[in-house]
Amino acid sequence: MSLPLLTGSIYLFLKWAPSNYQQPVLTAIGPYISDSALGTVAKVCGWVFCLSMVSGFNSWLSWKVENNWVEDKYDWNRELVLVTGASSGFGEMMAEQLAERGTKVITMARRPLKPELSAYKNVHHYQVDLSDWDGLALTAKQIKEEHGDPTVLVLNAGVASRTPFMQKKFTDIKKLIDVNLISHFAMLHHFLPAMIKKNHGYIMSIASVVGYLSMTGLCDYGTTKSGMVALHETLRQELRHVHKANKIRTSIIHTGWTKTAIIDDWEKGLKERGQITMPLADVVKPIMELLYSGYGTQLIIPGFLGFVAGMRGWPFWAQEFVRDKLNPYTGEYR
Ligand SMILES: NC(=O)c1ccc[n+]([C@@H]2O[C@H](COP(=O)([O-])OP(=O)(O)OC[C@H]3O[C@@H](n4cnc5c(N)ncnc54)[C@H](OP(=O)(O)O)[C@@H]3O)[C@@H](O)[C@H]2O)c1
Repeated sequence: MSLPLLTGSIYLFLKWAPSNYQQPVLTAIGPYISDSALGTVAKVCGWVFCLSMVSGFNSWLSWKVENNWVEDKYDWNRELVLVTGASSGFGEMMAEQLAERGTKVITMARRPLKPELSAYKNVHHYQVDLSDWDGLALTAKQIKEEHGDPTVLVLNAGVASRTPFMQKKFTDIKKLIDVNLISHFAMLHHFLPAMIKKNHGYIMSIASVVGYLSMTGLCDYGTTKSGMVALHETLRQELRHVHKANKIRTSIIHTGWTKTAIIDDWEKGLKERGQITMPLADVVKPIMELLYSGYGTQLIIPGFLGFVAGMRGWPFWAQEFVRDKLNPYTGEYR
């Protein structure tokens, strides 16, 4: 039973139920609870109910506004989904689940797909380096010629590095930003126009909670994930106001540490610093549910990390306190 339903029922029963219903219950529980304690229970339930209703209304309003108050249909047997970075981790699992469902999937990565994924007849893989702009343009053209225009874009490919800024080579920083951020701009340039024309499409960006709360060693990675927030927010505005493409959905996903190749060699260090790492399947499940819903929103996984999105409004001492707690740099970064 949901919290509002439970607390609302208790409140209504204690306050408003006809006495022929109320009395037998009050007589039965009388020996165990005093009248004043019962009054407090009614008050607490009343408040919890009201707050849950306000919070529910708030979520409903956000959901409606994020989707421009318009409905659109997604037929997963007809959509063409393009997933970047499908040779491992998030992209691989997402592509596999889509393929299993019968959706036609275009995948991109430098490496080939694992054999189980490439065995699907509805999966078409393109080996390309997303930071090679000319190669990417040729691949985008080839995809359009061979399969048509994708209706769903999952901007997922990414790399990470965890050394402090001065230990990073400039060329590596630039490469990381090219892959994790600039390639998304390129992908949008190639594939968004067709979506705008049809006023139908879904852009899902896989960012990170690091976009709100960066850490020692992640200056370049954090920059790209914060950049994705700005890109997502601006794109949403432009789709609505500039292009009047109010049915195009946009979602941004901020996940915490998840067990994939990207954190393979630093998972031990993360654990030592008390940071949790989640199984990939647990994280992909709500992401796929959101995608299949055909609605756009901002998703933070796990939900309790939702506070990071508001942290920049905190007093600076409190922000720094949290960053220090999550960033105990000991001279060796693992
Ligand atoms: N795992 C986490 O803890 C976590 C947390 C928050 C956000 N994320 C984000 O989730 C996304 C997916 O990462 P993951 O965790 O699934 O890591 P992963 O298993 O290492 O997958 C990264 C994917 O990106 C592709 N990629 C990297 N560089 C590329 C390039 N130059 N051109 C084309 N493809 C490239 C890789 O393919 P190739 O190597 O074959 O090119 C691979 O398929 C990333 O954006 C990451 O930032 C991950």
